[in-house]
Amino acid sequence: MTKAVSVIIRSLGVYVPPKVLSNKDLEIMVDTSEQWILERTGILERRIADDEMNTSDMAIKAALSCLEASETSATDVDLIIVATATPDYAFPSTACIVQHGISAKRAAAFDLEIGCTGFIYALATGAQFIRTGVYKNVLVVGAETLSRFVDWTDRNTCVLFGDGAGAALLTEGPPGEGILAFDLGADGSKEGLLILPAGMAKLPASEKTLKERMHYIQMDGRAVFRFAVGIINQSLATLLAKLGKRAQDIGLLVPHQANIRIIHSACRRFNLSEDRVMINIEKYGNTSSASIPIALYEACCEGRIQKGDLVVLVGFGAGLSWGSLAIQW
Ligand code: ACO
Repeated sequence: MTKAVSVIIRSLGVYVPPKVLSNKDLEIMVDTSEQWILERTGILERRIADDEMNTSDMAIKAALSCLEASETSATDVDLIIVATATPDYAFPSTACIVQHGISAKRAAAFDLEIGCTGFIYALATGAQFIRTGVYKNVLVVGAETLSRFVDWTDRNTCVLFGDGAGAALLTEGPPGEGILAFDLGADGSKEGLLILPAGMAKLPASEKTLKERMHYIQMDGRAVFRFAVGIINQSLATLLAKLGKRAQDIGLLVPHQANIRIIHSACRRFNLSEDRVMINIEKYGNTSSASIPIALYEACCEGRIQKGDLVVLVGFGAGLSWGSLAIQW
C-alpha cells in the first residue's frame, strides 16, 4: 500500500562555466550585430564550457552544491534524473556518470530527454517516486553543453544558446506545500522544426552527415517562436484551471529563457508585471534544460520568492514539447 505525500524542492544548486561569449564576440564570428541580438532575443552574453568540461561535469558541480545547501549526504539520494539533450554519450546515461561523480552509491539513475522542457518533465517524474512513497530523496538535474552542437557559422541559431547546469533536491514536505500540479504535453508531428538530425540510430555519423553539417542544431526559428507563444499561454491556462487559481495568484513565473519576446508575450496575455516574472536570459542565453533551474535558483538568491508564494514554471522545446508546473513555496 503506498501513501500520497507532498513533494517540495528542499534545495537548489547551479553551475555555469566561467567563459563568457558576448554579443560583441559574435559580431566577429557571424554577420550579426550586438544590437540585433539584444533587441530580437534579450541576450547580452552566454557561458561556454571549455573543451575539458562536459555536461556531466557541470551536472556534478550543480548537484554537489544543491546537496550542500540542504546538508544532504549523497549516500541518502535514492534517484538521480538528468534532463539533457546534450548528454556526454548516447550511452551510458549522463545520470550514471553523475551518480559516480557525487558518490551517490545507493541511487538509481537515468536521463530524460525532451529538449528544453526537460527540467519540468523531470521534476514531475521525480515527484511521483516520492509521492508514492517509493523514494525519499530525488535529485533532478538539468544540464547542457549546447555549444558543442551549435553551428557557429549559422547566425540564426548560434547567437541563442549557452551552457550550464542546475539541480533541485526533491523530498517529502509538509501537507499543502510543494508541487501542486503540472501540465505536460508533446506534438511529435513537429519533430523537424527543432532537430539535431545526425549522430544517432537514424543517421549515424558518416561522411555525408558531416559534409551536410547534420550534427548541429537545425531550427525553424519563426515557427518555433509562434509555437512557443501559443503553447505557453495554453499550458499556463490549463495549469491555472487545474489549480482553480487565476494569473493574479502567481507570485513568480519562472519561464524557460529562450527569447525575451516570448516571455513578454506571456506577461501581456496573463497581465503579469515584470516584477512577477523571472528573467535572466541576458546573462546565459538559452541553456535548454538548465535554464529553469538556473532562473529559479537566482530568483531565490535575489529574494524574489517568499514562503507561501505560488511559483509557476513553464517551458517548451524540441519534440515539440511543453510543460508547466506549480509549486506552493
Ligand atoms: N543577426 C542578424 N540578423 C539575423 C540573425 C542574427 N543573429 N538571425 C537571423 N537574422 C535575420 C534573418 O536572416 C532575417 O533576415 P531576412 O529578413 O533578410 O531573411 C531577419 O533577421 C529576421 O529573421 P526572423 O527569423 O524573422 O527573426 P526573428 O525576429 O524571428 O528572430 C529568432 C529569430 C531569434 C531565432 C526567433 O525566431 C526565436 O527566438 N525563435 C524561437 C527559437 C527558440 O526558442 N528556440 C529554442 C527552443 S527550445 C529547445 O528545445 C532548444
